[in-house]
Amino acid sequence: MNIVCFGANGATGRLLVRQALTEGHAVTAFTRHPEAFPIRDDRLQLAGGDVLDPSAVDKAVSGQKAVLSCLGVPFSRKPISVFSHGMANILQAMRHHGVRRLACVSATPVDPRYDTRGGFIFEKALKPVISRTIGRTMYHDLRRMESLVTQSDLDWTILRPSGLFAASSITDYQVTGGLTAGQFTSRTDLADCLLRQLDDDWSIHRALAVTTVSGQPGFLRFFLTEVIGKKTALPARSACPPAASEGRPSMGAACGRRPL
Ligand SMILES: NC(=O)c1ccc[n+]([C@@H]2O[C@H](COP(=O)([O-])OP(=O)(O)OC[C@H]3O[C@@H](n4cnc5c(N)ncnc54)[C@H](OP(=O)(O)O)[C@@H]3O)[C@@H](O)[C@H]2O)c1
Repeated sequence: MNIVCFGANGATGRLLVRQALTEGHAVTAFTRHPEAFPIRDDRLQLAGGDVLDPSAVDKAVSGQKAVLSCLGVPFSRKPISVFSHGMANILQAMRHHGVRRLACVSATPVDPRYDTRGGFIFEKALKPVISRTIGRTMYHDLRRMESLVTQSDLDWTILRPSGLFAASSITDYQVTGGLTAGQFTSRTDLADCLLRQLDDDWSIHRALAVTTVSGQPGFLRFFLTEVIGKKTALPARSACPPAASEGRPSMGAACGRRPL
């Protein structure tokens, strides 16, 4: 399948591109820094551009069968608009070229029922503080993005991970339309979940929480790597064979505990 990945040069995006190529897709990786993109493959095309540039987005979406987005920006107290403006451009380009399938990454705090069952201190102290301070502008823009997506007439799926962390293999992660089961999501699981949307009709027009059930990093490690900004190194390689038809996502919707 011809797919374009926005946010391809990010921590999740690189995993997504590698996994998509391994599964045989023809991938267009959209990034502002194609010269710094570390992956080369016969089925990979690099599309240099800014998602805020409608013409660059339009060109990248042309000829695709599906769009996957894991765009991201760091937490900031300043206003953030990359998610909503970028998605507006993506949606416009999809309509222009008749591309219908979209899966994009948001975040669990955007869900009004957000409850990761993280215990009293996490739920009542840490989470509200993050949501109201450093995360406020990001979640605000992610809500705007979700609103644009859900109001579109396209075949969309929104994936909401919890705190992201690096892991070396795909696990039996949980995908649910209800309450999340955990505070953390590995990027390998998130990348796999994005890919699974390509052949899954059940998830169309749903916003789904994605959480990693086993091997969670703990709040301190997450805080140091993700909030303070010291991201752990990306795995050197990742590969996930095509999953058998999984149908309706549920517990263990991933392709299992496969070493990468
Ligand atoms: N970190 C967490 O704990 C957490 C929790 C829940 C949800 N999320 C969400 O998960 C997603 C993926 O996170 P991540 O940490 O894997 O992402 P990341 O490493 O921050 O990568 C995001 C990528 O987005 C691209 N990007 C940003 N602005 C762009 C622009 N104007 N035009 C084109 N590309 C742009 C950048 O690529 P270039 O610089 O190459 O263009 C960047 O590499 C994000 O949406 C994030 O909000 C994160």
